[in-house]
Amino acid sequence: MPETSKGPAKEYDGFAFELRENGVAFVAIDTPGEKVNILSSHVMKEFNRLLDDISTRHDIKALVFISLKEDNFIAGANLDEIENVTEAADGAEKARAGQSTFQKIAKLPFPAIAAIQGACVGGGLELALACHFRIAKIHPKTRIGLPEVRLGILPGFGGTQRLPRLIGIEKALGLILTGKLVDARKAGQLGLVDKVLPIDHHGFIKAEAEEFALGAIEQFKDGAHGKSRGHGSIMSKIVEGTAMGRGFLFDAARKRTLRSTKGHYPAPLKALEAVQRGLEVPIETGLEIEARLLGELIITDVSKSLIAIFHLSEDLKKDTGVEKAKSQPATITNVHLIGAGVMGGGIAQLLAFNDIAVRMKDVNQQALDLGFSRASQIFQAAVDKRKLKPADMQRKMTLISGTLDYSGFSISDFVIEAIIENMEVKKQVFAELEGEVSEQTILATNTSSLSITEIATAVKKPERVIGFHFFNPVHRMPLVEIIRGDKTSDETTITAVAFAKRLGKTPIVVKNSPCFLVNRILGPYINEGALLLQEGATIDEIDKAMLDFGMPMGPINLLDEVGLDVGFKVAKILHEAFPDRIAVSPVMEKMSVAGRLGKKGGRGFYIYDGKKKKIDPEVYRVIGHVRRAGAISRQDIQNRLLAAMLKEAALCLEEGIVRRARDVDAGLIFGTGFPPFRGGLLRYADSLGLSFWADLMAQLAEKTGPRFAVPKLIAELAEKSGTFYG
Ligand code: NAI
Repeated sequence: MPETSKGPAKEYDGFAFELRENGVAFVAIDTPGEKVNILSSHVMKEFNRLLDDISTRHDIKALVFISLKEDNFIAGANLDEIENVTEAADGAEKARAGQSTFQKIAKLPFPAIAAIQGACVGGGLELALACHFRIAKIHPKTRIGLPEVRLGILPGFGGTQRLPRLIGIEKALGLILTGKLVDARKAGQLGLVDKVLPIDHHGFIKAEAEEFALGAIEQFKDGAHGKSRGHGSIMSKIVEGTAMGRGFLFDAARKRTLRSTKGHYPAPLKALEAVQRGLEVPIETGLEIEARLLGELIITDVSKSLIAIFHLSEDLKKDTGVEKAKSQPATITNVHLIGAGVMGGGIAQLLAFNDIAVRMKDVNQQALDLGFSRASQIFQAAVDKRKLKPADMQRKMTLISGTLDYSGFSISDFVIEAIIENMEVKKQVFAELEGEVSEQTILATNTSSLSITEIATAVKKPERVIGFHFFNPVHRMPLVEIIRGDKTSDETTITAVAFAKRLGKTPIVVKNSPCFLVNRILGPYINEGALLLQEGATIDEIDKAMLDFGMPMGPINLLDEVGLDVGFKVAKILHEAFPDRIAVSPVMEKMSVAGRLGKKGGRGFYIYDGKKKKIDPEVYRVIGHVRRAGAISRQDIQNRLLAAMLKEAALCLEEGIVRRARDVDAGLIFGTGFPPFRGGLLRYADSLGLSFWADLMAQLAEKTGPRFAVPKLIAELAEKSGTFYG
C-alpha cells in the first residue's frame, strides 16, 4: 500500500486528514471524548472549514469519509441542540447550515465515498447520501437509517431529498416515515450502499475503502454516481415514473401513516410532504422546503416529548438499579423457569431469542407442551414476517428444554417462577426450590400482585428473592418491573436489572407494595372507567375519549383485555390496601357474577369474533346501566381518568415506590403504551401545571368523594409552581 505523502495541512477538531500517494484522501471522523460521533454545531463548523480547504486541491483524486470509532460511523446530530430550538426560523436555519455543508460534499470535483462501519444514522446517513458513493461493512453494529421521525422531526440535512432520488420513492418512504434502521446487507439490497463488504476479523474498513475509491475515480468521470440505485421492479418504475403513479403512491402512504399514527404524530406527514414536493422541483428548492418543514416540526410539543423520552431511555440504560452501586452484576449463564403457561412460554421464547438456554419445569407433560408451542408460535410469527430465518428459529428452539422435576436446577444462576397467582402455592414452590439450587442462585418471581416480601419468607436467604415482572405479551412489551422485597439485596437487584437489559428490556426498580407500580396506577384508571359507566356514560364514550387522548385502549376495553376475573382480583387487592380511596365498582362484580370474563372468554363488555370486536348491547342490562349518552363530556371523562392515574402516581412517588418521576413515566409508556407523544403521565401533568391538577382534583373530590383528595405532593408542587421533574 502506498505511503502517506502529506500529513494534515491544518488541525481540525474532531477530524484527521490524510492524503496518500495514490491520490486517495481520508477524512477520519472522531469526536473527541465521545463514545459516538455526533454532528454538533462545533463539529459542523470544523467540517466546513475542512471541506473549504480541500475542495480546491488538485492533488486529491478521491476522498473517503471514515470513522476512527470502530463500531460507529456517525450517530446523528446533537439532540440537546435540537431540543433547545424554540423558534421555527431558527430550526430552518440550522437545517440550511447543515444542508449547505453537505452540498459542498456533493459538489466536490472528485468522488466522495462514505465508508460505513457501525451506526450511520440521521445526519450520519445524510452525510453519506451527499457522497457520490457509499460502501458498508457487515458488522453487528452497522445500522443505517433516518430515525428522525421517532424524535418528532424530519431528516433536515437533505435526507428527504437525496434518499428518494437515490433509491426510489417507495423504498425511501419505507425508511423515512418509519425511522426504521437496516443492516449493511439490507442497505445493499435497497441500493442505499454501492458495495457491501463481508465481515472479517481484522475488522477495519480502511484498506477496502481505499481500493473502492481508486475504482470510483473512473466511475465518477463516467457520471455513474448520478444514477438512481433503486433496482425496483418494472412495475414500481412505471408507477414512480408518472405523475399519476406518484400521486397514487403518496396518497396510499399518507393513508397508511394516518392509520398508524392516528393523527397524533405530525412528523411522518411533514416528511412525506417534503419528499413529495421536493421531487417536483430541483434539489436546491427541495432542500429549502425540507428546511422550512423541519423548522415547523422542531418546535412542537410532540418533538420535545419524544426527545425527553429518548433521554429517559438513555438514562435508564445507565441505571444500575441502586444508588451508588458497590458491586458488579453476577454472570448469568444458566436460567430455569417454573411454570410453562402463558407467561412461562413467552419468557422461554424471549430467553431463547437472546440465545440463552432455558429449562422449563411444569406439573405435567401437557402443560410443558403448551409452553413449547407458545414459544414456537411467537418464533413462527417472526419467521412469517421475515424478521427471523427458519434455521435461526430451529436453532433457538433447541435452547428450550423441559422437565417435570428439578433435574438440572442445581447449576441454575437465575430461576424465574411463573406459576399460578396464589401465595400459598408460590411459597411452597420457593421453599422446595431453595433445596434444589446453589447458594448463589437468584430466585425471581413474575407475580403481578403478590408481596415479594411475603414470598421471600418461604426461603432461608430472602435477600436473593426478587420480583421480575414481565408484561403480556412478553416478546412485545418492553418493560420489566424489578421489585425489591424488604430484604432483597443490592447485589440481587443489580444482577436482575443487568439481566433484564441483556434481554433487551427496560427495567425499572420498584419497592414492594400492593400491585407494584404499573398495575397500581392502572387499577384506579380501570376502576374510574367502571364508575363513569355506572354514572351513565356509555362504553363507547369512555373508551373513545381515551383513544382520542392517545392511550392504546380505553379503560373498559382494557378490563376486557386483562380479564374481568383478574381485574376484579386486582381491584380487591387495591381496595384492601387503600380502602379510603379505592372501592371496587359494582360493575366489576356484576360482570364477574354474569361469567363475562372479557376477551379470553369471547365476551365481556365487548363481544369478540376472531380479531373483530363490538360492544355488546346486552351488557348494559347486565350491569343495570341507566344510559345517559352525552351526560359526561369527553373532556370530563379524560380529566377524571387522567386525574385518577395521576393521583396514584403522585402517591407512589411520595411513598418512595419508585426513586424518581422518570420511573413512573417509563413504567406507563413501556408497560401500558401511555402515548409517547405526551411525554409520559408526569411530564404531561407538568406541562399543564400542577395547580391545574390540584384544582381539578379538589373539584372532583367535592363532586365524587374523597378518592380524589389532592395528594400532599401535588398540593406542595402546585403551591410553589414546581414540577415532578424539578
Ligand atoms: P398460566 O395459568 O397460563 O400458567 C401457569 C403455569 O404454571 C401452568 O402451566 C401450570 O401448570 C403451572 N404450574 C402451576 N403450579 C405449578 C407448580 N407447582 N410447579 C410448576 N408449574 C406449576 O398463568 P400465567 O398467566 O402464565 O401467569 C403466571 C404468573 O405470571 C402469575 O403469577 C401471574 O400473575 C403472572 N403474570 C401474568 C400476566 C398475564 O397477563 N397472564 C402478566 C404478568 C404477570
